[in-house]
Amino acid sequence: MLSMKHDYLSNLLMVQAANNAIKRRIEREQADPTLMAERAGITPDRWQADLLRSSARQMILNCSRQSGKSTISAVLGLHQAIYTPDSLSLLLSPSLRQSQELFRKLKGVYSALESDLLPQPVIETALTTEFDNNSRIIALPGKEATIRGFSGVDLLIVDEASRVPDELYQAIRPMLAVSGGRIILLSTPFGKRGFFHSEWTDGIGWLRTKITADQCPRIDKEWLERERQMIGDWWYRQEYLCQFVETLDSVFNFDDIRSIPSSDVKPLVF
Ligand SMILES: Nc1ncnc2c1ncn2[C@@H]1O[C@H](COP(=O)(O)OP(=O)(O)OP(=O)(O)O)[C@@H](O)[C@H]1O
Ligand SMILES: [Mg+2]
Repeated sequence: MLSMKHDYLSNLLMVQAANNAIKRRIEREQADPTLMAERAGITPDRWQADLLRSSARQMILNCSRQSGKSTISAVLGLHQAIYTPDSLSLLLSPSLRQSQELFRKLKGVYSALESDLLPQPVIETALTTEFDNNSRIIALPGKEATIRGFSGVDLLIVDEASRVPDELYQAIRPMLAVSGGRIILLSTPFGKRGFFHSEWTDGIGWLRTKITADQCPRIDKEWLERERQMIGDWWYRQEYLCQFVETLDSVFNFDDIRSIPSSDVKPLVF
């Protein structure tokens, strides 16, 4: 009888200790998303860890192909949903297919975690996950008509942002107005045009991150050199060196036009 009571008490203490450990881990992960990334098997690069730990409201990532910008945004999106109940995160790309791709990455991170200890999905479709903590993640098509109507957005992730039309960007920004939500623009450049270029060069209040291919430990140097020879200098500078190169068919040079002092330009009146 005495030993049964002892077993019961020691089991209770063990369960309590395990629960406390989980509670402490959750508190640590909530404060530091890099811990969640690591538990999902992703050891963030230095710049990725800096982004995960940043509290900046506006982040813009001008990063090489395959540097890991989508992966780390997916981690941020999932962290938001799991650790901020009632939150709304939107994933936007130039096309539905690309938004879904980011959504899949995010789900991949979720399934790599011990999901029974986390908020559970209650609604799951190809474009939406809603958790039992009332948080939602929604992947959006890249069309203005279909994305209006969301408000109280806590996190807006815009992948392949240099390819997203300006009208779409203008349509989504007000969604953050009342909620004071965060926005992350991530892309490789696509010429000196559009909001991605103007926010990167002149935008106010952005945390800027630029990672070229040679700064990514996973991209092989020899492979990169072969790629440069294959795709040519122009594409290489854009895709791997993150340069806003002039569009191939551009007649006027953007920097030349911008450097013209406007008072010196006389109107052409005859
Ligand atoms: N910190 C990391 N550790 C290990 N693998 C990583 C890390 N970050 C990203 N990766 C892997 O690197 C590859 C490229 O990552 P990701 O798709 O996020 O890059 P990207 O910059 O969005 O590329 P693209 O420009 O082609 O869209 C993926 O296989 C991803 O799993
Ligand atoms: Mg990507």
